[in-house]
Amino acid sequence: MALRKILTEPNEVLRQKSLKVEKVDKDLQKLMDDMLETMYAAPGIGLAAIQVGVPKRVIVLDLDHKDKPKKPIYFVNPEIIEKSENNSTYEEGCLSVPGQFAEIDRPDKCHVKYLDYYGQPKEIKAEGMLATCIQHEMDHLEGILFIDYLSKLKKSMIIKKLSKQKKTVERIVV
Ligand code: NI
Repeated sequence: MALRKILTEPNEVLRQKSLKVEKVDKDLQKLMDDMLETMYAAPGIGLAAIQVGVPKRVIVLDLDHKDKPKKPIYFVNPEIIEKSENNSTYEEGCLSVPGQFAEIDRPDKCHVKYLDYYGQPKEIKAEGMLATCIQHEMDHLEGILFIDYLSKLKKSMIIKKLSKQKKTVERIVV
């Protein structure tokens, strides 16, 4: 396994639409292993492949990342079959939008079908925090970030802040 670099906003790659995976093979499993290691190291509870620059429809999640043994869930080509009409609100953050948080409303339940780590078809009926995390990660596959749900002003303030932070980091490296 290897750590990969997590891309942060603003970055055009994060706005790409990810492509469907044709085959769950060794290479894809290696990508999933790397993503999980990168997510745990960050630390975070969810990561989409596009966040490490790979435009494939792959997500890893582990809401109980502090538990041992770990309980990761791998989603390949996830599709929402059904969402509830009721919303729930969580304060969301994102490894690609470091240090920024905002309350976001999303359907509080979702029924998702996907392929697992071995390419086997699976379904999950998620609710609460898990439902929110799945939807947040699935947005990444469409090039959507949680800040896109905020007002124009709030979003542009966050992007400005992140751009400034990036410059500071570059200066230290040089
Ligand atoms: Ni995210």
